[in-house]
Amino acid sequence: MLAEKTVVLGVTGGIAAYKAADLASKLTQGGATVNVIMTGSAMEFVAPLTFRAITHRPVVTSMFELTSEFSVEHVALAEAADIVVIAPATANVIAKIATGIADDMLTTTVLATEAPVVLAPAMNVNMWQNPVTRENVARLKDRGFTFVGPGYGRLASGSMGLGRLVDIGEIMGTVQQVLGRKGDLAGKCIVVTAGGTREAIDPVRYIGNRSSGKMGFALAEAARDRGATVTLITAPVSLPVPAGMEVINVESVVEMKEAVAKATTKADALIMAAAPADYVAKSVADQKIKKGSAALSVDLVKAPDIISEVSGDFIKVGFSAETENLLANAREKLERKRLDLMVANDVTTADSGFAVDTNKVTIIDREGKTEDLPLMTKREVADRVLDRVVGMVG
Ligand SMILES: Cc1cc2nc3c(=O)[nH]c(=O)nc-3n(C[C@H](O)[C@H](O)[C@H](O)COP(=O)(O)O)c2cc1C
Repeated sequence: MLAEKTVVLGVTGGIAAYKAADLASKLTQGGATVNVIMTGSAMEFVAPLTFRAITHRPVVTSMFELTSEFSVEHVALAEAADIVVIAPATANVIAKIATGIADDMLTTTVLATEAPVVLAPAMNVNMWQNPVTRENVARLKDRGFTFVGPGYGRLASGSMGLGRLVDIGEIMGTVQQVLGRKGDLAGKCIVVTAGGTREAIDPVRYIGNRSSGKMGFALAEAARDRGATVTLITAPVSLPVPAGMEVINVESVVEMKEAVAKATTKADALIMAAAPADYVAKSVADQKIKKGSAALSVDLVKAPDIISEVSGDFIKVGFSAETENLLANAREKLERKRLDLMVANDVTTADSGFAVDTNKVTIIDREGKTEDLPLMTKREVADRVLDRVVGMVG
């Protein structure tokens, strides 16, 4: 997604300026050409050399001492940009952009560009809450500027409050989302489920499964990056919360079913990459079950089958994790659950299935045709599944 993209990274004069080095690194690693513009104040906090070394590009620090590459005209950077990201964005730069001031290279570039602009504010809580900052932010949002954060937490002043630069992962997610706005899923609503549900047997114990949520998260991120409006419904997982989508946290299969029913009322597609429990405890003990007896049996009853039971006019994509008879079992499920697409996943090999970053799957459609994919990353699998979804939600 970032490959072949040109990003202008504006760094302004806040304590969080050092964190922009990590952002520059992630953008560069993602394949983007990153042109950093620093304000005079930013250079009080971090040296341009840091960004130069990370991006392997000249860093622009003055409007009147441009490097040869950018010296053609003062708007060259603005014209080349696919996106402008300002992180951290000071109260000062937000005010200047909101009023059209162009008194340095960064604000001139923002005024001159037609590319989307993402701002990640970071400042003292009173600066953020000051009515003039609120007005400036509202005005910029109205004009289509995208804000990510600020977050709540400990600020440089030592106090707690709203004003922290959000995690770099969240800024990266927002950048991907904004760049993907015109993708092949633009205007489509995609609901994705992820993770393994937890079914209580008493107030402290549950029955779970090995699903890590990685496949579902990869699908949700890939759909977001192709322009879809994404709702991710996730059982408990240990993955960072993805930016640029609605994330609904659930625990049990019943909660997941309710969330799916609600989220799919406007959906074009439901992709069930979660591993909801097949069986749940017949009754959940009110108190913690004591360790006394030598053996314990828990009566289990069939859990609701979310993808079969949820109804509506949308494409249904299922995932079938199998340990034997992969294709036969997956085909039978596709028929019985009346799905449009089934992604069959052999979970017996070490590099495919639960917890790992790669997957080997076979996609089966309603006509029974199969597409056997080689081992690839879960993100690549996600894009291949979405290639098929695009054709169906068209
Ligand atoms: C130590 C120090 C920390 C600062 N941190 C912030 C900050 O986090 N956010 C902010 O909006 N301004 C902060 N400022 C104030 C800005 O540096 C000041 O408003 C400056 O004019 C911003 O210039 P720029 O927006 O062109 O980078 C800080 C100032 C100092 C001296």
